Amino acid sequence: MIKVNISAVSGQKVSAMLPRALEAHNALRNKTGRGGDFLGWVDLPAKADEAELARIKAAALKIKTDSQVLLVCGIGGSYLGARAVIEALRGSFYNIKKKDTPDIFFVGNNLSSGYMAEILSLVEHKDFSINVISKSGTTTEPAVAFRILKNLIEHRYGKEGAKKRVYATTDISKGALRQMAGAEGYETFVIPDDVGGRYSVLTPVGLLPIAAAGIDIDALLAGAREGMELCAEPGEGNPAWRYAIARNVLLSEGKRTEIMASYNPSFVFLAEWYKQLYGESEGKEGKGIFPAAVNFTADLHSMGQYIQEGARDIFETVLLVSRPDANIKVPEDADDLDGLNFLAGKPLADIEREAFRGTYLAHSDGHVPNLVIEIDKADERNLGALLYFYEYACGISGYLLGVNPFDQPGVESYKKNMFALLGKPGYEEQGKALAARLDF
Ligand code: PA5
Repeated sequence: MIKVNISAVSGQKVSAMLPRALEAHNALRNKTGRGGDFLGWVDLPAKADEAELARIKAAALKIKTDSQVLLVCGIGGSYLGARAVIEALRGSFYNIKKKDTPDIFFVGNNLSSGYMAEILSLVEHKDFSINVISKSGTTTEPAVAFRILKNLIEHRYGKEGAKKRVYATTDISKGALRQMAGAEGYETFVIPDDVGGRYSVLTPVGLLPIAAAGIDIDALLAGAREGMELCAEPGEGNPAWRYAIARNVLLSEGKRTEIMASYNPSFVFLAEWYKQLYGESEGKEGKGIFPAAVNFTADLHSMGQYIQEGARDIFETVLLVSRPDANIKVPEDADDLDGLNFLAGKPLADIEREAFRGTYLAHSDGHVPNLVIEIDKADERNLGALLYFYEYACGISGYLLGVNPFDQPGVESYKKNMFALLGKPGYEEQGKALAARLDF
């Protein structure tokens, strides 16, 4: 189901790291490592709450019935997983496709007034609902966006009508969003206490928007369960171990940046999700592998040059789908002015495969080690397994690196400065001191 090729890495070095991988594996399973309070995701696919799933499906059905647009308001782990899965499975053109499910737009993931103005104009003549998602319930970007959207939806449908169109996904008891949902009477979904934002795609955080997009969440969770079983087996055959070990061996050889490469344009947000998962989990205490991403073959004509010949501190991990999405062949042309008749009758997928194989060799020859993660098909089951695999490998990799992969203390610094500069009560002196250091 998931194959991980690490032939680019020394077998001896992989073997030498196996005992440490076992320690990391046991720490994840027994919750004895750093961040052990945030390991609820490890067995999450096995303990799906049927009643909660039924409520998610019912909410998705209601949204489909009464809304042309669903606005999903969240940031980071409360945003990227849903977008990654929807685009990977429903395609990058989901919103402009003919379909019987609502358009889905993501808001609250930036502070851009232009972006917000576009969103407001997109729902001007359309019925819409909102899924506001925030574990802490206090994150600035979605909170500010939701204040604007709440105002809009209440003007459009009245307070009573609005409350039937707002779905809040948040902590079971804490935070401003939980309080607001209680006061306003919104339907709520719970983010488990022991699941951090970037590990929450398989909770209602991801599942409600994913279900609203018409994706089979039972199949997604069944795939995640298969991924969970695969990753539970200790040993060199465990795909998550292989990936985590290979990354850390490469890091020990000075490869400080990992570039996730995929050949599927609808995987761009899967790569964004991976960047958050690994960047936020590993980048701390002066350590980490910088997670970057490219989409081939487009980026072979931009980043390809750097990968081939730039600074040699990078490695590449290709995410490959073996079965083609569609059977499109190159047609014969009588004049052959472009000289491409040698490809006539060839499936586009075969040309893409050779692009991958040629690039693999070219980049390897350019001293960029290539790891390959391969799934059979881009469907619910494989994607569910893949999401779990990436999460588990991230836990193992973070422990191998010697960090706590489940906290994100560094995210607070910009927030404190922003609040101080905005004049939040209690931050006045700090705000003045910060402003004095800036000349713009
Ligand atoms: O992984 C994380 O914990 C973060 O990226 C959060 O998901 C992000 O900051 C959003 O937080 P919240 O869901 O509390 O609004």
